[in-house]
Amino acid sequence: MPNKTYKVLKDAKSRALIDDDTYQKWYKQSIKDPEKFWDKHGKRIDWFKPYTKVKNTSFTGKVSIKWFEDGLTNVSYNCIDRHLEKRGDQVAIIWEGDNPYDDKKITYKELYDHVCRLANVMKANGVKKGDRVTIYMPMIPEAAYAMLACTRIGAIHSIVFGGFSPDALAGRITDCKSTFVITADEGLRGGKKIPLKHNTDLAIKIAERDGVVVQKVLVVQRTAGKVEWFADRDIWYHEAVASAKPDCPPAKMKAEDPLFILYTSGSTGKPKGVLHTTGGYLVYASMTHEYVFDYHPGDIYWCTADVGWVTGHSYIVYGPLANGATTLMFEGVPNYPSPSRFWDVIDKHQVNIFYTAPTAIRALMGAGDDHVTKTSRKSLRTLGSVGEPINPEAWIWYYNVVGDKRCPIVDTWWQTETGGILITPLPGATPLKPGSATRPFFGVQPQLVDNDGDVLEGTAEGNLCIVDSWPGQMRTVYGDHERFIQTYFSTYKGKYFTGDGCRRDDDGYYWITGRVDDVINVSGHRMGTAEVESALVSHDAVSEAAVVGYPHDLKGQGIYCYITLMEGQEGTDELRKALVNHVRHEIGPIASPDKIQFSPGLPKTRSGKIMRRILRKIAEDEFGALGDTSTLADPSVVDDLIANRQNKK
Ligand code: PRX
Repeated sequence: MPNKTYKVLKDAKSRALIDDDTYQKWYKQSIKDPEKFWDKHGKRIDWFKPYTKVKNTSFTGKVSIKWFEDGLTNVSYNCIDRHLEKRGDQVAIIWEGDNPYDDKKITYKELYDHVCRLANVMKANGVKKGDRVTIYMPMIPEAAYAMLACTRIGAIHSIVFGGFSPDALAGRITDCKSTFVITADEGLRGGKKIPLKHNTDLAIKIAERDGVVVQKVLVVQRTAGKVEWFADRDIWYHEAVASAKPDCPPAKMKAEDPLFILYTSGSTGKPKGVLHTTGGYLVYASMTHEYVFDYHPGDIYWCTADVGWVTGHSYIVYGPLANGATTLMFEGVPNYPSPSRFWDVIDKHQVNIFYTAPTAIRALMGAGDDHVTKTSRKSLRTLGSVGEPINPEAWIWYYNVVGDKRCPIVDTWWQTETGGILITPLPGATPLKPGSATRPFFGVQPQLVDNDGDVLEGTAEGNLCIVDSWPGQMRTVYGDHERFIQTYFSTYKGKYFTGDGCRRDDDGYYWITGRVDDVINVSGHRMGTAEVESALVSHDAVSEAAVVGYPHDLKGQGIYCYITLMEGQEGTDELRKALVNHVRHEIGPIASPDKIQFSPGLPKTRSGKIMRRILRKIAEDEFGALGDTSTLADPSVVDDLIANRQNKK
């Protein structure tokens, strides 16, 4: 493993908000006296009624997490109103369309107007504090308006990524009993249209069958493509906001009032509704945005994520806007119309801070350096990475070629559940090692434990836990607190278990090694193998399915499916194609299987448990290291699996 250290760059150090001494000092304070530390930093947002209680958290028993609990605030107020006096005419959102000739800039004053009008439209259509609003949108400014309008009136948003299928959307609408949906006629990515309204219509029918009736659908006109219209239910966004009042008072929200639900995959069953609340989340998102990216007023900041993922929530919308930043929102994809797109956009809008995912970096690295070097990128100062481990080759390319060796890379480790970044370098403070997320952020106490839960000290590799709460932490699984306790606090009692494996080196740096549960990470998208399996077995030809991840050059992990067919079915290439389409239809294109292997049987223990360890090894083409197979009910299935493997190196 390369372990070269990159010293803190001089320029980064000289302008940094936090240097190494400050990091060390603050970190110690944050662990020694979290009450005092967060009492101070909680004040970075505005409160209608200041809090007197700071931290009230317990990782044992019923698990209860409360921060700033007696304070009153409002997220949209903090992201908009409080900036109006000083920076009302400053650009809040730069929107860069899929088509490079399509862009616009929205100032804080304009943002206020858009958000208030939309909030009034929602109120007029019956949306009240505590109601769940589903947002299924392309990357257009209206997606941010929708989020902020919900927070203005105290509605809880649940954003569903635009790449998810009608079935997946329906499941999420039903789980949180959401009766108001905001969508667009069509999305546009890489020149291709995505039928969002049509998908919504289908999802609403499915949800209705499951007992949840969507009352209103607000539709943004993005492409003016043809859509079916249900006059008693559907509302055109542009018509409704045109006649709405441009002022709407922000609701006074308790710090622990729910802010949003975001569904994410786990190792078992259906996706969980991760619930984040108001005060602590905003404090944490804004603080990490400022210090991790060394954000200074006036900077142009660009995070390439989609608002359908947590990165879009915390680091396109809430963190940057709470800090009064100019945040860039990109509708398109990295390679359209050419692999220079990212770098062209950086030059066009003079981006200073750029935050993207390793999968995009690897793909663009593969397209060749010319696409990068023909652009200037002089405006760049800080680079970020998120979503999956970044391999040292990609890191070094990002550093040398994209950043011209002038820009520190912050490799930020965190999760939907954590609300914000937990392990990361700080640009002016932390010497970097390619592939390491380095050190914990303030207030974060990582711990490595072995499979028995024994704490590992010093240089070690084990399961990554966090031993005490931080303000951005999720509070519960929506509607199922027991599942919250079971999933995160029962494996290692009294600790938050992340599901990730991790190594700590001699310098105390953390290296995330990937998931240790049945979750895979495909192009930075998190997916439960159980979800793909249940999509596969819902096909008539399939009797049984087992899904594992395997290393994939571009995607990080690919999806490898082992399938046992029903009697009389034949494992043809045509059936392979049909199954791929079936999964795309059930979940969405992000879950497309990469390899499908038909097999007469799966390796099971005598008690019927599938031995995934063996399947993983065969998928990796590492069958020399299968380990003990003697506990298998029928060891002979392994020979067939090896002989017909789909991933011969
Ligand atoms: O396995 C870790 C990986 O992504 C998981 C969280 O996925 P999700 O909730 O979708 O959030 C992604 C964006 C925050 C983690 O459990 N992961 C995320 N960032 C990194 C990472 N793995 C290694 N290095 C990272 N920087």
